[in-house]
Amino acid sequence: MVEAIVALDVATMADAQALVRRLGGACDFYKVGLELFAAEGPEVVRWLRGEGKRVFVDLKLHDIPNTVRGAARSVARLGASLLTVHASGGTDMMAAAVAGAAEGSAESSAEGETCGILGVTVLTSMDAGGVEQAWGREQVVVQGEVERLAGLAADAGAAGIVCSGHEAAGVRARYGGRLGLLVPGIRLAGGATHDQRRVMTPSAAAAAGARWLILGRAVTGAADPVAAMAAVRAELI
Ligand code: C5P
Repeated sequence: MVEAIVALDVATMADAQALVRRLGGACDFYKVGLELFAAEGPEVVRWLRGEGKRVFVDLKLHDIPNTVRGAARSVARLGASLLTVHASGGTDMMAAAVAGAAEGSAESSAEGETCGILGVTVLTSMDAGGVEQAWGREQVVVQGEVERLAGLAADAGAAGIVCSGHEAAGVRARYGGRLGLLVPGIRLAGGATHDQRRVMTPSAAAAAGARWLILGRAVTGAADPVAAMAAVRAELI
């Protein structure tokens, strides 16, 4: 089953609450990312958990293992179900995140699942040229880079990885039994791509093996987010 996650990419608790009240149970998780977490902190996660929502905390952590372990523990203690770290932080860092998340979930007063760690491979806003420039590499093939990073995530015991729909089938073929695939950059057919470079429709991403889809501006930026969410669901049946 493919689960739908709506990204609360807003700057205030009030805007997040308005969006959640509008969409209600139309999605399986709500995502709290950097913008909202930087503005409102853990309180927004506590509020979502109090509303009975499952929460994906998308902080894309990348630091020394000890620091990431502590941060993952703190996030899991809030009752989050999923947390991202950058796979390029390496196996030790991701394994530390997995350990910290397990500790935090065990300590959490919120009933729920153990917080899964997802390794971000190559951001969907980057293409091969962007990776070559940022990482100082020559002749990068995004597919190969994503699969290499997925291997590190699998070795670290991560629950899954984040990749674009274009790399999903290849990753699934190699690591499908060990990693769930979370796919952002989802757009309804004909929708604007914004700053994303590697986009896909919900049905195509599901067919490629996605376990979770992130719906950002395709839903939250729509004139009618409820109708847009219904259109996404209709594709996933
Ligand atoms: O609005 P849009 O659909 O482009 O939003 C995508 C969401 O997915 C944003 O919240 C972004 O932070 C997140 N994301 C991403 N690429 C990743 C991981 C997360 O775009 N690799």
